[in-house]
Amino acid sequence: MISNKTIILGITGSIAAYKATEIASQLTQAGVEVNVIMTKEAIEFISPVTFRAITGKPVVTEMFDLASEFSIEHISLAKAADIVIIAPATANIIAKLAAGIADGMLCCTVLATKAPVLIAPAMETNMYNNPATQDNLSKLKARNFVIIAPATGRLASGKEGLGRLADINDIIGSIRQVLGRGGDLADKDIVVTAGGTQEPIDPVRYISNRSSGKMGYALAEAARDRGAKVTLITAPTSLPEPVGINVVKVNTAQEMRQAVENAAPQADVLIMAAAVADYRPTKAAKDKIKKVEAGLTLEMECTPDILGSIKGNFIKVGFAAESSNLVENAREKLKQKRLDFIVANDITASDSGFGTDTNQVTIIDHEGKIDDLPLLPKREVADKVLDRVVEFLSKS
Ligand code: CTP
Repeated sequence: MISNKTIILGITGSIAAYKATEIASQLTQAGVEVNVIMTKEAIEFISPVTFRAITGKPVVTEMFDLASEFSIEHISLAKAADIVIIAPATANIIAKLAAGIADGMLCCTVLATKAPVLIAPAMETNMYNNPATQDNLSKLKARNFVIIAPATGRLASGKEGLGRLADINDIIGSIRQVLGRGGDLADKDIVVTAGGTQEPIDPVRYISNRSSGKMGYALAEAARDRGAKVTLITAPTSLPEPVGINVVKVNTAQEMRQAVENAAPQADVLIMAAAVADYRPTKAAKDKIKKVEAGLTLEMECTPDILGSIKGNFIKVGFAAESSNLVENAREKLKQKRLDFIVANDITASDSGFGTDTNQVTIIDHEGKIDDLPLLPKREVADKVLDRVVEFLSKS
């Protein structure tokens, strides 16, 4: 869990400094105590007042006399921090940190902390690729700093290239992942499937369903944030690829089955949140099917039942999307597919099921225990499901 953590957010003199407002805002909203330190170059780009308003905390902007009461207090904050993140990080701060120079409050804080330090570089392509910068980054990596690689895109110079500050979602994801180290799923290998498979009819058409993939992605991210090593096997979705997760992209039920079989031997847990198509066209046409007045009849065959046929020594969790007889139908699937537990949801309920950000589920385990959960954001449902996974792992 990220709430109640203390983070130091270091901001340096880059045009991307304004993007740190979004990082500060998202973390503060998630219940994190955010302490901002800005270099004097950073305040040329954005006012400390902005960060003070966002975080509700004083912003440190100057190197004070180290003997002063304030500085000593601040060094103790460096010691209390759960994580230090510098975003954006210029070539200059990266060089100073690599050299261990105690110049400015931010460098001093990094030297004083034992917390993990994350660095999100943002600079011109040539500066980033320069062997000096790359050497400095290698040195920091060797000292266990986490480098959040920059993205490619439009740079301050107006040119396109590598060096843009990484996507904010990736930065927040990296923070969550690092904070989750040593969580209750640490070192566990968890395979999650997500999305609706697409079964081709011809080169341009397919049969699929309304699954958005949100539940599976929430599970994968929540497992990552509790220390697990996660493989996410996903059918096409419009969701951004989560960081710190091994993402395997598939289209069809057959491809998903292959990917699950590849990942399962190492797995401690398999959670099948994907909406796997039950039928596929017997044959996908090689050429685009032309419209004819007489209409079209498709011949369909069953897809493999991935969850029903997979064998191995892992906790098996299924989902059951039902429109009637929720508990009865889910129980039947639990038995048939020999699951440890099943997460059933009534897709006819409002705000629950396909495409929504919330879900109302009932968890039924193989001992017959039924747990009715209220309507919750999918991320919270994911954590409830993982609580049960932790319970089952402790028994296995
Ligand atoms: N599942 C699977 N392979 C399939 C179909 C489903 O692994 N070919 C998995 C789903 O990922 C889910 C569980 O089985 O975890 C139940 O899926 P669901 O579609 O609700 O059940 P079906 O077995 O397909 O039964 P029905 O469609 O008749 O309700």
